[in-house]
Amino acid sequence: MFDHVWLNADLATMLPGGAPYGLITDGAVAAKGRRIAWIGARKELPGPASETHDCEGGLVTPGLIDCHTHLVFAGNRAGEFERRLEGASYEEIARAGGGILSTVTATRAADEAALLALAAPRLARLMADGVTTVEVKSGYGLEPATELRMLRAARALGEAHEVSVLATLLAAHALPPEFAENRAGYVQSCIAMMEQAAAEDLVDAVDAFCDTIGFTVTETTSIFRAAVAQGLPVKLHADQLSDCGGAALAARFGALSADHLEYASRAGLEAMANAGTIAVLLPGAFYTLNETRAPDIAAMREAGVAIAVATDANPGSSPMLSLLLAMNMACTKFRLTPEEALAGVTLNAARALGLDDRGVLAAGLRCDLAVYRVKHPAELSYWIGADLCQGRAVAGQAL
Ligand code: NIG
Ligand code: FE
Repeated sequence: MFDHVWLNADLATMLPGGAPYGLITDGAVAAKGRRIAWIGARKELPGPASETHDCEGGLVTPGLIDCHTHLVFAGNRAGEFERRLEGASYEEIARAGGGILSTVTATRAADEAALLALAAPRLARLMADGVTTVEVKSGYGLEPATELRMLRAARALGEAHEVSVLATLLAAHALPPEFAENRAGYVQSCIAMMEQAAAEDLVDAVDAFCDTIGFTVTETTSIFRAAVAQGLPVKLHADQLSDCGGAALAARFGALSADHLEYASRAGLEAMANAGTIAVLLPGAFYTLNETRAPDIAAMREAGVAIAVATDANPGSSPMLSLLLAMNMACTKFRLTPEEALAGVTLNAARALGLDDRGVLAAGLRCDLAVYRVKHPAELSYWIGADLCQGRAVAGQAL
């Protein structure tokens, strides 16, 4: 006897190597406890379940995974949005002390309860699209108390809501004003924050912003060495605004992912393919900053880099709270196929977070799934702003 069964749907299992989307027409998914116990054609379903969920002829996918967000922050940057529309660039605003640093000021002034109250409705919007796992970065504290508070808020979000939350330390997001004349001192401080966060079990991975307005390859290397010594996986904001060698740096450290990559070189992408580092595309930031240089998807395909897609939800470069919209933008702006976009928020997004228990629908894996009111999986990337998700399951709990 199963605990739950989902019926009357096609299943986009996203298992590679078979039918497009790993599609099973008129399938059934059965869960026992937290896991998928059986999946296949409905007519072969081996037994009954305590609860049956009628998917009304829709589509079941693995629960969506948003593998790059900055969901926890205070304040917003609508004023900066206005200035950009008047002609100022993201980089100019950052260099003048605005941008990330203005969110830092607001976030330092917010306590954990305030941060949680602000992040909860953002998380609810992501979940409404079928998201069951979200990565949340720190990076708007840039000093120990606030960076750790952001990580605690991320952990608390996961406990308070029906979703898995992974917390990433991004202390190396911008140089705080206190260290304006002492970059090396701040790099040391990032390492100390990492050690403290690890000691309190607040961190699942370490990230850095390696770019002209972020940190250099040498600075990032010091932080990554310390992360590896601590046993923490690394990820990187790489080559967003210029080719800084971020893709190759991420590959050298066997990073889980390198993210953005608009300016990544072919050699950098090839190094990522060899290292198994996932390319995370963030079309919301490309769109919001009105960028013109798209990541080199053809080179990624040729090199065999696995591609993920995320919202980059943040108050500056991507105030976007829909992963389905990110899929649409990845197709429209970066020319991903809808199948690549869906793999990018399931199979490859799981890999970008180092998770091997989810991302596809298969027996034995965590039962995280989403049910959509669509007939064909390409509709998930095609509709813009539609209300498509009719239900989710998280670790076998039907929601
Ligand atoms: O992923 N590039 C750096 N970090 C964020 C932007 C954060 C912000 O502008 O507040 C990003 O785009
Ligand atoms: Fe980001």
